[in-house]
Amino acid sequence: MKVIAHRGYSGKYPENTMLAFEKAVEAGCDEIELDVHITKDGQVVVCHDEVLGRTVDGAGPVKDHTYEELRQMNAARLYPQLTEFERIPLFEEYCAWAAGQNISTNVELKTGFYYYEEIEEKTAEIVKRYGLQARMMFSSFNHVSLLRMKQLLPECECGALISRFGMGNAGYYCNRYGFECYHPDHTGVTDEILESCRRYGIRINAWTVNDMEDLAKAYERGYAGVITNYPLECREWLSKKE
Ligand code: G3P
Ligand code: MG
Repeated sequence: MKVIAHRGYSGKYPENTMLAFEKAVEAGCDEIELDVHITKDGQVVVCHDEVLGRTVDGAGPVKDHTYEELRQMNAARLYPQLTEFERIPLFEEYCAWAAGQNISTNVELKTGFYYYEEIEEKTAEIVKRYGLQARMMFSSFNHVSLLRMKQLLPECECGALISRFGMGNAGYYCNRYGFECYHPDHTGVTDEILESCRRYGIRINAWTVNDMEDLAKAYERGYAGVITNYPLECREWLSKKE
């Protein structure tokens, strides 16, 4: 079972920052999950929220700021004791770093609340520029974005993100649209979903698995991966199992 670091090692470090990504690799993760948006000046940027203020010391929507403005905001506002400042990374900067790491990446296209123009094309171009196709997968709650990624980078896998309500006949659905993986909220996986994914050969990567009981359940159910804020704790637990 793969350990996928959710927004990097976000349980202990400022999410979606290079620090959290570096710490996730040190923790022994197999893959890093991160979220992307488009800035006012058309740059692909790594951040979770559409609107700043929670983890980033700023205000207003990401789309209304240029990257020059965003890079001056502190993405570590929740960790004053740990670090003074972490910037919002460009996706390009992440890729330049990831090219030298022995990990894969799960890029979540944040097109569920606001649809960023050409986010798929811009993201694909960067992935190609850094030659990361073999180690990159895409996920989104907006499955039209995934269909577009399949057109642009057919060699990259896609995972359909689904809320805690789950989706009946998930395996058929993913298989029909060419999505290799089903990415459910870990609380929303029924026996029917498990069976359907098994029947169609669809792999399950569940989020966000942060406690040991849920980790054990994911392992027993044969998930392909867990998306977790605690990659070190998951890695240590798994190393005793595998
Ligand atoms: O990829 C799993 C998870 O990241 C989906 O939800 O809101 O944490 O991006 P969210
Ligand atoms: Mg995400």
